Amino acid sequence: MVDKALGTGGRKSDRDLKIRLKTAKGRTTSSTKWLQRQLNDPYVARARSEGYRSRAAFKIKEIDEKQKLFKKGMRVVDLGAAPGGWSQVAAKAVGSTAEHPLIVGIDYLEMDPIPGVILLQKDFTEDDAPDMLFKALGGHKADVVMSDMAWPTTGHRPTDHLRIVHLIEIAADFAIQVLNPGGAFVAKVFQGGTEHELLHMLKRHFRTTMHVKPPSSRSESAEAYLVAKGFKGAEPARAAEDDSDA
Ligand SMILES: C[S@@+](CC[C@H](N)C(=O)[O-])C[C@H]1O[C@@H](n2cnc3c(N)ncnc32)[C@H](O)[C@@H]1O
Repeated sequence: MVDKALGTGGRKSDRDLKIRLKTAKGRTTSSTKWLQRQLNDPYVARARSEGYRSRAAFKIKEIDEKQKLFKKGMRVVDLGAAPGGWSQVAAKAVGSTAEHPLIVGIDYLEMDPIPGVILLQKDFTEDDAPDMLFKALGGHKADVVMSDMAWPTTGHRPTDHLRIVHLIEIAADFAIQVLNPGGAFVAKVFQGGTEHELLHMLKRHFRTTMHVKPPSSRSESAEAYLVAKGFKGAEPARAAEDDSDA
């Protein structure tokens, strides 16, 4: 049941108008909380009115506003793309069209088509996923690899931690293989930031690395985003790695 609580004086304003839900029969407390949060979330309302499929769209929009990731004509890979908010933002920013698609997205969930975006329904951790993405890029390299992937949590913190670290590692490995020199890698990370070893590897391959928390990322959420920019190109970094092994 929806109950609109008015602010002082009984005047409705956007700020005052808060929707509270009573727990309905059959609805758990956590799903009631989730629904209440959705109903009161200005980003959810904005996503709806601006035609984005997810409130997550604003995270990459805000990251791009600060970090200047996208330029017209760039090619972008979106890992964990469903329902498609990030791909929509990227497609608009780079000017991707159905005739000349510049964005390739992958998710194991089914997605409705997005104009200008080639979508693969596939688990990115499967061995043949990178090849499928290379093929979908039509032999071109990418300028941005962005990953909003996260496994559903198991509740067992060490397991969840290892699983997310693994996901970020394979996304980073893929980015290093597919990016053009100067390219950027963006990935969702969780509390504690990026693992030391991975960060070290990224610092070798990119001119700058940083962690950002866009305003639309809920403050109570442990998520943040790693942004690595200025990819140095596969060859010099590989040579540097060979040197360090010597
Ligand atoms: C937070 S959502 C992405 C939201 C998206 N950025 C948007 O704006 O609509 C995370 C997505 O990652 C996907 N995902 C998680 N692990 C994956 C994997 N191994 N392979 C492919 N997709 C994965 C999930 O299915 C989920 O759709």
